[in-house]
Amino acid sequence: RIKKKQTICRTDIDRLNVPFLAIYESLIPSEEEKAKQRQLLTLLEKLVSKEWPKAQLYLYGSCANSFGVSKSDVDVCLAIEDADMDKSEVILKLADILQSDNLQNVQALTRARVPIVKLMDPVTGISCDICINNVLAVVNTKLLRDYAQIDERLRQLAFIVKHWAKSRGVNETYQGTLSSYAYVLMCIHFLQQRRPAVLPCLQEMETTYSVTVEEVKCAYFDQVEKLGDFGNHNRETIAQLVWGFFNYWAYCHDYTKSVVSVRTGSILSKQEKDWTRRIGNDRHLICIEDPFEISHDLGRVVDKYSIKVLREEFERAAHIMQYDPNPCGTLFKRY
Ligand code: CTP
Ligand code: MG
Repeated sequence: RIKKKQTICRTDIDRLNVPFLAIYESLIPSEEEKAKQRQLLTLLEKLVSKEWPKAQLYLYGSCANSFGVSKSDVDVCLAIEDADMDKSEVILKLADILQSDNLQNVQALTRARVPIVKLMDPVTGISCDICINNVLAVVNTKLLRDYAQIDERLRQLAFIVKHWAKSRGVNETYQGTLSSYAYVLMCIHFLQQRRPAVLPCLQEMETTYSVTVEEVKCAYFDQVEKLGDFGNHNRETIAQLVWGFFNYWAYCHDYTKSVVSVRTGSILSKQEKDWTRRIGNDRHLICIEDPFEISHDLGRVVDKYSIKVLREEFERAAHIMQYDPNPCGTLFKRY
């Protein structure tokens, strides 16, 4: 059941542009921090190449997709071709190498869904997770980064949404709420759906970039610098878009029938995805299609308790945007 749509827009919404942009600016990582991340990557490359001369290291996740706020962890993917190697063995070997080079808190998590090595670099103070051969994550990182270059309102909106989600405790996949990656996809989808659109659908355009990873074909238009003024027909401000985003997830999204799809730039039906019932642990209570692994629903972590929490938080945020005299204070209040 779709809740009653709120149609009145606050007339004074635009006075929130200045405070929202100030929050956005305050979250951007400094050049110094970016330099430290590169320094850590260089150190890791040196250590890894001694053991595996042909291996490559790639940054992925928020430090490479341009949606990283300052003080984020660094996500690194180690790509090794060696066909007959066992991931757990590589993880343990890697942990060994890092440990003996004075990196701190080195932990090998071989049994996690995505096995990783965790570490902290005492020189830069940066924490880092290294996974093995998760090349799809490297490719979806590029897709997000390319979207971010088309219109700066995407990065602004996503920073504010991520900041809200972290403050309100709804960015915890182990507690059944959504990953940062899911929130960014929700923002991209939202901006694709505005009329006029703020973002195009890159996967529906001419292919200029194409790779096949684990039998998944990833193809889209990546010459985004040629789309420079795509979003200019839409003059909505960041305050209007934040208001619209929360209003959409509070009152306009059909949770029983709809799937959000960045890949097609549209809403799909749960029916056509066959996401209508619980299979194993996948409950499909809020459906966000992964742009490349299209059988992945990023909402699959959400259960019958956390869906309530999420929807109440969207409604709370929409209500604050609509009526609160000081929305910036209330919106990000620690829960
Ligand atoms: N990822 C993925 N599939 C998921 C979750 C994550 O492919 N279900 C990949 C994406 O490439 C994503 C990266 O893992 O960019 C890191 O995910 P996440 O921690 O959710 O996002 P970050 O952008 O790193 O956010 P944060 O700033 O919170 O660390
Ligand atoms: Mg991360």
